[in-house]
Amino acid sequence: MAVIADRCPQVQVTVVDLNAERIAAWNDPDLTLLPVYEPGLDAVVGRARGRNLHFSTAVEEAIAAADMVFISVNTPTKTRGIGAGQASDLKWVEASARTVAKAARGHTIVVEKSTLPVRTAAVIENILTSSERATESQPGRSFSVLSNPEFLAEGTAIADLESPDRVLIGGQDPEAIEALEAIYRHWVPAERILTTNLWSSELSKLTANAFLAQRISSINGVAAICEATGADVRQVSQAIGADSRIGPKFLQAGPGFGGSCFQKDILNLVYLCRHYGLEEVAAYWEQVVTLNHWQQQRIARLVITKLFGTVSGKRIGVLGFAFKADTNDTRESPAIRICIDLLEEGAILQILDPKVSEQQIAQDLGLPSSHGEGSWKLVTDVHQAASGADALLLLTEWQQFSEIDWPTVAALMRQPAWLFDARAKADATAAKAAGLQVWTVGEGSPV
Ligand code: UDX
Repeated sequence: MAVIADRCPQVQVTVVDLNAERIAAWNDPDLTLLPVYEPGLDAVVGRARGRNLHFSTAVEEAIAAADMVFISVNTPTKTRGIGAGQASDLKWVEASARTVAKAARGHTIVVEKSTLPVRTAAVIENILTSSERATESQPGRSFSVLSNPEFLAEGTAIADLESPDRVLIGGQDPEAIEALEAIYRHWVPAERILTTNLWSSELSKLTANAFLAQRISSINGVAAICEATGADVRQVSQAIGADSRIGPKFLQAGPGFGGSCFQKDILNLVYLCRHYGLEEVAAYWEQVVTLNHWQQQRIARLVITKLFGTVSGKRIGVLGFAFKADTNDTRESPAIRICIDLLEEGAILQILDPKVSEQQIAQDLGLPSSHGEGSWKLVTDVHQAASGADALLLLTEWQQFSEIDWPTVAALMRQPAWLFDARAKADATAAKAAGLQVWTVGEGSPV
């Protein structure tokens, strides 16, 4: 929404949330304290805030004044009831639709922005149309529902929004589609704006994420074969990515995918397939998630095996906790599962992440920071992470981890010491020269 405000100074954008603390953080004069860390976001908010970008808790007031309302609420995986563990919990979407139904005035275009299971627009439409009837206190209102899924990736969100591969708008009402298209045309070339029916738009978002995640599970599976056979997954990625039909992106082996979308969207797709009796299709996509979990367990097991079969009481420096670099987001981060496995084996983890807070890690690991076997603490530099450690385990590809001064760091570790690089990010040659044993994901030793 901040980018829309930035690119369309004549459009008034009001972001509303019931959470007053969060809104206060978005209004903080210190732009480094915005609730989301995203490179470039502070500059965009700095330019537009107070001009045509506003953050407010006055939800109903803002809806009443709006021509267009974007629903961008969380849709977490259900934890209980029908579809638990797979289907999305739509309670916030439904609550938002009901609030819009109550507060809107005149004609309102309602845009689904949250990633939703296919045919959710029908639920929103249903709630809205049942409120269209005019009453004495409420003059006539009408609604058009559009789907406009978001394809941005964290860490590159601003660049993705400013120059998207495509903008997708799904809907039935040509006037509503044109109104939303007109907003994007301020900065997106018309040929990159695709219009489809509502269901195609909703399904495209789930499918795009499923395809991306599938590539990662595929390459992680290949990484394991490389390690077993003496091939090098980076060479394989380069070789297959040179085929223009395959393309070079999303072929980086790693500790498995994390983030708020991939797993959730695939599980949604799996649920949808089962709902329509497509068991084989469901099993196919489910395997992408299974392989992702396997990769995480494989890495934890490998660390334990290489450290003579036990990590009990051993210090391990964990480099990176976020699910990818340039974000403070830890949702579904592979680091969570890997750290939990190591903690259960009694390891003492010295975790370093430039953006993730101690509080967040404690919540993710279900364990406060402490001392002794099976404990963790947050450290602030790589020297502290390496201090007295038998191993460093690189899990997030932060740039600083490719610039480590290995002779200094190796001298702080207990020998024989290991570097486990699950992102192929570190300078392995320098680490080896400094006396470390190095394991790099997907790198087999040629015989
Ligand atoms: C993703 C989609 O890319 C985006 O289009 C959608 O809107 C939301 O979900 P995001 O989760 O922010 O975006 O990050 P992304 O860059 O896609 O990475 C997801 C995960 O895959 C990360 O854990 C990342 O480290 C991992 N990944 C990505 C790999 O392991 N290898 C790769 O080659 C690429």
